[in-house]
Amino acid sequence: MRLEKAADNVFWMLNGRRRLLSLNLAKGETVYGERLFTIAGKEYREWMPNRSKLAALLFKGFSGIDIRFGSKVLYLGASSGTTVSHVSDIIGPSGAVYAVEIAEEMGVNLVFLAERRPNIYPIIADASKTESYSDFVPKCDFIYQDIAQREQVKIFLKNAGMFVKQGGSGVIAIKSRSIDVSMPSERVISAAERELSKKCKIVRSVRLDPFQKDHAMIYVRFV
Ligand SMILES: C[S@@+](CC[C@H](N)C(=O)[O-])C[C@H]1O[C@@H](n2cnc3c(N)ncnc32)[C@H](O)[C@@H]1O
Repeated sequence: MRLEKAADNVFWMLNGRRRLLSLNLAKGETVYGERLFTIAGKEYREWMPNRSKLAALLFKGFSGIDIRFGSKVLYLGASSGTTVSHVSDIIGPSGAVYAVEIAEEMGVNLVFLAERRPNIYPIIADASKTESYSDFVPKCDFIYQDIAQREQVKIFLKNAGMFVKQGGSGVIAIKSRSIDVSMPSERVISAAERELSKKCKIVRSVRLDPFQKDHAMIYVRFV
């Protein structure tokens, strides 16, 4: 079985259909029914691009993700932890992912997930109210946001300003239809890019089709 590195603890499995795998931090356990593979004595979880926008970004050819072994990551819009669990695999036991989610019912799943993955710190809060969690989140290397709401760029920049180290990076998922249903997707994405470029350097803007309809990921660096 041939594996090729895609990011820290993330690999492409190259025989037959191309699959993305992350090294399982919680051996023997799945999070959302994903397949497990054991290769050369190590266990990996399949990471599907139609379940996770971060996986879709890798499938679209972006290879420069700055989430690394040991990184501190602020994750806004964690839901029940599908993508958070793969971030937890990437950063390994010495990293930390601060997973913010507004919906309590999703937050309960995050709390259970954190019991099996000690590098996840669940925070049930509104990402627009940074002061409600500023005591729990240190300066981070990376910010990831997937909250699909109107003020999403403002919320991203507010959090980045408070919690991301200078020289850090981040990625924001833009769901073009939920910002403004009356505006064509491309215009919504360009407006987000313009707003972001006032405060950070845009490294790449990637449309996620066919894996995630009407979505783009904008990858930035805070210089
Ligand atoms: C598309 S889902 C996230 C999926 C998740 N990122 C994944 O890949 O596993 C968006 C999530 O953002 C949460 N959300 C929306 N507005 C939020 C806010 N202001 N603060 C925190 N979470 C928010 C929603 O409750 C929802 O669970």
